[in-house]
Amino acid sequence: MADIETFKQENRIFNPPADFVRDAAISGMDNYKAMCAAAERDYEGFWANLARENISWQKPFTKVLDESQAPFYKWFDDGQLNVSYNCLERNLQNGNAEKTAIIFEADDGTVTRVSYQQLHDKVCQVANGLKSLGIRKGDRVVIYMPMSVEGIAAMQACARIGATHSVVFGGFSAKSLQERIIDAGAVAVITADEQVRGGKQLPLKAIVDEALAMGGCDSIRNIIVYRRTGGNINMQQGRDLWLQDVTAGQAATCEPEWVNAEHPLFILYTSGSTGKPKGVQHSSGGYLLWAALTMKWTFDIKPTDVFWCTADIGWVTGHTYIAYGPLAVGATQIVFEGVPTYPHAGRFWDMIARHKATIFYTAPTAIRSLIKASEADAKVHPKNFDLSSLRLLGSVGEPINPEAWMWYYRNVGNEKCPIADTFWQTETGGHMITPLPGATPMVPGSCTLPLPGIQAAVVDETGNELPNGQGGILVVKRPWPSMIRTIWGDPERFKKSYFPEELGGKMYLAGDGAVRNEQTGYFTITGRIDDVLNVSGHRMGTMEIESALVANPLVAEAAVVGKPDETTGEAICAFVVLKRARPNGDEAKQIAKELRDWVAKEIGPIAKPKEIRFGDNLPKTRSGKIMRRLLRVLAKGEQITQDVSTLENPAILEQLKQAQ
Ligand code: PRX
Repeated sequence: MADIETFKQENRIFNPPADFVRDAAISGMDNYKAMCAAAERDYEGFWANLARENISWQKPFTKVLDESQAPFYKWFDDGQLNVSYNCLERNLQNGNAEKTAIIFEADDGTVTRVSYQQLHDKVCQVANGLKSLGIRKGDRVVIYMPMSVEGIAAMQACARIGATHSVVFGGFSAKSLQERIIDAGAVAVITADEQVRGGKQLPLKAIVDEALAMGGCDSIRNIIVYRRTGGNINMQQGRDLWLQDVTAGQAATCEPEWVNAEHPLFILYTSGSTGKPKGVQHSSGGYLLWAALTMKWTFDIKPTDVFWCTADIGWVTGHTYIAYGPLAVGATQIVFEGVPTYPHAGRFWDMIARHKATIFYTAPTAIRSLIKASEADAKVHPKNFDLSSLRLLGSVGEPINPEAWMWYYRNVGNEKCPIADTFWQTETGGHMITPLPGATPMVPGSCTLPLPGIQAAVVDETGNELPNGQGGILVVKRPWPSMIRTIWGDPERFKKSYFPEELGGKMYLAGDGAVRNEQTGYFTITGRIDDVLNVSGHRMGTMEIESALVANPLVAEAAVVGKPDETTGEAICAFVVLKRARPNGDEAKQIAKELRDWVAKEIGPIAKPKEIRFGDNLPKTRSGKIMRRLLRVLAKGEQITQDVSTLENPAILEQLKQAQ
């Protein structure tokens, strides 16, 4: 959780540069305020105009917002469109056929450029290939692919034929993949033989095989494999097909499947406060509108820009700001296969210089680790690279501490690039609270103000709005076009998680705490208020990790909490009770390693606890509830000052104090 004190003391203000303001799509605070006022005056009219301007509709919508089944809101529902048509044909018609859509840089530095025409043709071939396998509108397709043009084409091809994709991050384990395949009821998996990261070849197809071998994936008919490395894999006859074979001889045109605006474009699984990941379901029309609008508002995208979002397509950032947003506005973007530290930690800066990137969007964790790397090795410091092409920077996924913000501003942006600290979530579909680069004065560590039309507020537990300066719960008071539509297969959980009765059932509960500055009204996110951790910008449920741990035959009980970490923001700390006596010394180290590997197998390497402490028991109340807030204090290495009189077993705290 971010340290609120740091932000309270933060009073430096950085104004956007004058030339940026002059040329920006939203220019100056008066312009921003006028847009907010327009949305306030005529909420539906505001969104309707934007939806007409930014999207090509096959059949125009007549209704804007349907609240009749709230909180299952519908936007533009009787309108028909196709998302892939909007991302491809719309650009061909705008004279961008020969414009570079994607500059793909492979792990080994090989660069491939793909024009809008070429991308269109590729997507159509994949779409026709999927159709030839009997995949139809409404079917679910799991995509488990590396960062690649093919990964993006697979997503776009699904959109083109009206199939709902569910991308699973390539770092998730077979078990996680299997659970998602089953929950989505997917008919096919699109994957690659292997992925390449940091010079290493890592399996993908073998993990899909393992997931299917676990059973329960009966809905799967085909596995389609993109040949990335040529590595040795098994192909099961009748089930497994090479993507190259599926697309061979397919036409380079494919009539798009026109779908209603509410048709589910994708499901993306994310962690919640209970054990099971939630399938966040997004729409077609409202989502696409948001992807396009935020490219214009937040990133001020211009035809000459070279945009680079360093996220992976396995996360929502890679959906909205790689697979859809940049294409929806006809931008040129960089897509990167590798990792920021290979072959050296100056890779990002080197790529910005070589491709003349103008907009760079990354996560605070990456910035913090590159700060460390450049302190250790001056050669990889950004000052050694020509970053003069940059005009705008962005940050996403976790709070950015003011120190990292300042370093980014000075050393990467040369004090001339605004920084968009974009607060949003898988559920929100796109940016919600962020500075506008040509309007909003910036304060390091604050995501500043909501986008026009977004009615964000800070409330108490009963939904009453709190005065500025008082910390509380972050909510959004009105529905917006790109909001989550439901949790796939679990509408009740959707209602309970996001529109709880305690808040009146009408406010969207983000799950984060926030505080607004007394003078400026600026928002600062203070961290999750539920049992969700943010490790390196990756969202992890503590319950998910606990379930994984207790599934190990050695473990009787486990409690997982976050502890602040300089580089990853938060780190996972697990308190574990074994079924046998508490281990010590080397044995404890050995078992801790076993358990970490176990979690990597159950969920994925990103969920490995950084620290594991063993105890004879966990601190519990007399009614048997684990007192996690005490564990959080212990994990931080701080003294317990809270009242522990309700504890059944106060002596256990002493034992759990020690890191093994
Ligand atoms: O806690 C907030 C944090 O990341 C959570 C959302 O995670 P996820 O759904 O994985 O989406 C990440 C990419 C949008 C939020 O609930 N978060 C995200 N952006 C910020 C942030 N916290 C502070 N500042 C941000 N800019």
